[in-house]
Amino acid sequence: MSAIPFRYLSQEDLIRCGAFDLPMAIKAAQDSIRLYDDGRILFPEKIVQEFDEVYKDRINCLPATLLDKQICGMKWVSVFPRNPQRFGTQNLSAIIVLSHIEKGYPVCVMDGTLCSNMRVAAIGATAAQYLAREDAESIGFIGAGEQARMHLLGMKAVRPGLKVCRVAAKYAHEEEGFIRALQPIFPDMEFIACGTVLEDAIRESDIIVTATSAQAPLLKPEWVKKGAFYSHIGGWECDYGVITMADKLVCDDWSVVRHRLSTITRVYNEGLITDNDITGDLIDLLKGKVKRDNDDEFIVFSAAGLSYVDIAIAEKMFRRAEAADAGSLLNLQEQTVFEHELSGLVRV
Ligand SMILES: NC(=O)c1ccc[n+]([C@@H]2O[C@H](COP(=O)([O-])OP(=O)(O)OC[C@H]3O[C@@H](n4cnc5c(N)ncnc54)[C@H](O)[C@@H]3O)[C@@H](O)[C@H]2O)c1
Repeated sequence: MSAIPFRYLSQEDLIRCGAFDLPMAIKAAQDSIRLYDDGRILFPEKIVQEFDEVYKDRINCLPATLLDKQICGMKWVSVFPRNPQRFGTQNLSAIIVLSHIEKGYPVCVMDGTLCSNMRVAAIGATAAQYLAREDAESIGFIGAGEQARMHLLGMKAVRPGLKVCRVAAKYAHEEEGFIRALQPIFPDMEFIACGTVLEDAIRESDIIVTATSAQAPLLKPEWVKKGAFYSHIGGWECDYGVITMADKLVCDDWSVVRHRLSTITRVYNEGLITDNDITGDLIDLLKGKVKRDNDDEFIVFSAAGLSYVDIAIAEKMFRRAEAADAGSLLNLQEQTVFEHELSGLVRV
């Protein structure tokens, strides 16, 4: 009676049970944005603990509650941008806890890295679904890391007509790693490594993605093709001119983005754009208030990252895993403390 069981899901459990599902994540993301707008999601402030002023090594605690699903979740996410250089390991790692709010007991502890990266891609893909040209055939990446790779999966889910993918990163071996990972998933796509020449990844691209740890103005306005859609993922990644020349500026949520340190915020803080220059947020796309108006518009999308979306995607992943009986059923406790036979086991 007093056992508290929960499901533990490693990344491998999630992949094997079919929870690595971009269309599922995109739908969950869009549903959650509507629910948040309807006041059906609790989304308190995140807690940030930063360990390095320059490199911003940090661990964040991000809670949210899906009231209709009766699920309260928390993402505990580490962002250590120097990991690839220092240790040859990934930057981001995360764990997610989901609790049911009838009794408040945990129901799932899962890897959160996959979900977190899928969320970033699902949000970029949602923007592209509404704002990229319907006939987009080429995509160009600056950055070849985890976010860039996942973004290609998201973009292909909403623009299956993408045929050519160009990639440029700081080091050529990263571009090769990107292609090695993605070519088997998209055998019909042409992949082009740009040998660290960033401009070559961008000039011909209908969809542009920057996903870097650079904190520098990498993308230049003169490289941007007419009618392109640009998803900006990292901190400071493009020249201010890219932002000021955009026909439309769309955010996941400008009220959140404006307090972060991304290129668009820098441009805003310098007084080069005002609140009135922000065309809208994702909710405006979903409600049909903002859309691409012609094939020539250059549209920039910038996301801060809304962690209630992670919890919404995690809940779907958990349900998929539960249906497949994936992972391990563990007990947080088998019985209450004083139901145990404790003699000789308590130090007082
Ligand atoms: N917006 C969001 O919701 C969100 C969520 C997660 C991560 N991020 C951000 O996305 C960015 C990428 O994250 P990641 O996990 O893919 O990192 P990663 O370390 O896996 O990849 C970083 C990439 O940046 C490239 N890069 C760095 N400096 C460069 C330069 N000068 N020129 C060209 N390329 C350069 C590297 O070559 C590498 O391919 C980070 O800034 C991260 O903070 C944003």
